[in-house]
Amino acid sequence: MQHRRIALVGFMASGKSTVGKSLANHLQRPFVDLDQYIESSTGKTIPDIFGSLGEAAFRQLERDALTSVVRGDELIVLATGGGVVTQAANRDVLQREWVCIYLRTRPETVRQRLHRDGVVRPLLAVDNPTEAIRSLMAAREAWYNEVADFTVDVDSLEVPAVVRQIIDWLND
Ligand code: S3P
Repeated sequence: MQHRRIALVGFMASGKSTVGKSLANHLQRPFVDLDQYIESSTGKTIPDIFGSLGEAAFRQLERDALTSVVRGDELIVLATGGGVVTQAANRDVLQREWVCIYLRTRPETVRQRLHRDGVVRPLLAVDNPTEAIRSLMAAREAWYNEVADFTVDVDSLEVPAVVRQIIDWLND
C-alpha cells in the first residue's frame, strides 16, 4: 500500500481536500486536488463549468483530469470530487491504479459542513439541498464502497484523527 498512489473519495464536504493535504504532508508526498486541477487547466471555476457547459461536460473534464493528473511515477495523494465515482471508467481506473480511501459521512454531517469551506457546489445549489444530499448519497453509496480499499467514518472525527486512522491502516 505504501508504494501506490492514494485517492480520497467520498461525498461533497466530507473533508477530502483538508484530509488529503494533511495526509500528503505526513507522507511527504505531493498533493493534488482534482477540482483545482480542472479549474487551473480550463481557467474556469467549477460553478462556471457547470453553468456554461453543463454537468456532462464537467464529467468529461473530470475523466480526462483523472488520467492526466498522474505524471510519471509520482506517488501523489489525490482529493477527488464527490461525483468522480459516477463514471464507470473512473471507478475502473480508481480500482486498478489507486489505493482508495473512502471518507464516509452521514447526510446530516454534509448539511452542517456545507458552507464551512466556502466552496460552491452546483449540484446542491437547489431549493431543497437536504433532499439533494440524501438522494445523491443514496445513489452513490454503492460506488464509493465498490472502489474503497479502506473506509473512515468521519462524522465525529477531527482531521488529525482521520489522518491517523489512514496512516495506521497504511502501515499495517
Ligand atoms: C461534485 C463534487 C464537487 C465538484 C462538483 C461536483 C459532485 O467536489 O467536483 O461540484 O458531483 O459530488 P467536492 O466533493 O470536493 O465538493
